[in-house]
Amino acid sequence: MEWVSFIRQYAHRPRIVGAVAPSSKYLAGKMVEDIDFGHAEYIVEYGPGTGVFTEKLLAKRKPHTVIILVEYNSIFYSMLKEKYGREPNVHIIHDSAEHIDKYLAQYGISQVDYFVSGLPFASLSAAVSSGILAKSQQYLKEDGKFITFQYTLLKKGLISRYFGEIRIKREIRNFPPAYVFNCSAGVDNTEAKRGGNGEGNSFDRG
Ligand SMILES: C[S@@+](CC[C@H](N)C(=O)[O-])C[C@H]1O[C@@H](n2cnc3c(N)ncnc32)[C@H](O)[C@@H]1O
Repeated sequence: MEWVSFIRQYAHRPRIVGAVAPSSKYLAGKMVEDIDFGHAEYIVEYGPGTGVFTEKLLAKRKPHTVIILVEYNSIFYSMLKEKYGREPNVHIIHDSAEHIDKYLAQYGISQVDYFVSGLPFASLSAAVSSGILAKSQQYLKEDGKFITFQYTLLKKGLISRYFGEIRIKREIRNFPPAYVFNCSAGVDNTEAKRGGNGEGNSFDRG
């Protein structure tokens, strides 16, 4: 049923939804496998859609870990509210991830351990993508991670402007096959922030 809803939403707003089907459980597993759930205080998920990654986050988090879901699509937002609205320490927001700073302030959160993003950077505008990446970098803990998936490597250059170190894994058990980008500030991302070419980033077939 969620597949039907997803395909409908894709047909309605292809550039915003950015995928014809929800991600697979295999991709979801790769998205969360590097999260240190024992120590994570705050996890923000952008673009949860029907909640494939959310399920993994909820299954693995400690009860005190706060999860914030930010979904732009009203149909997906309603589905998320229905499924997770009664979960303790879960906040579900109907808005664009561009405004994450407003909600972090509202919940008194100054730094985030992990951003888990399902956003379709390949089809979002450059201004929207840059705004979201800049705010995520700004609020990410020093040892935190920004984790996203993409179907191609085309946006690696854009993402590396905000994160000095990117480790990339591939998951073929997904339609379409996808890359998981595991991004952190890195030792020195000054050059990357200036728009460097991301040399030194690693590619791991994983
Ligand atoms: C490729 S789908 C991924 C959905 C889900 N994470 C998955 O993997 O199955 C992209 C999701 O991002 C949402 N989205 C797109 N732009 C957004 C924005 N600016 N802020 C928040 N969510 C957004 C879409 O509505 C959709 O749910």
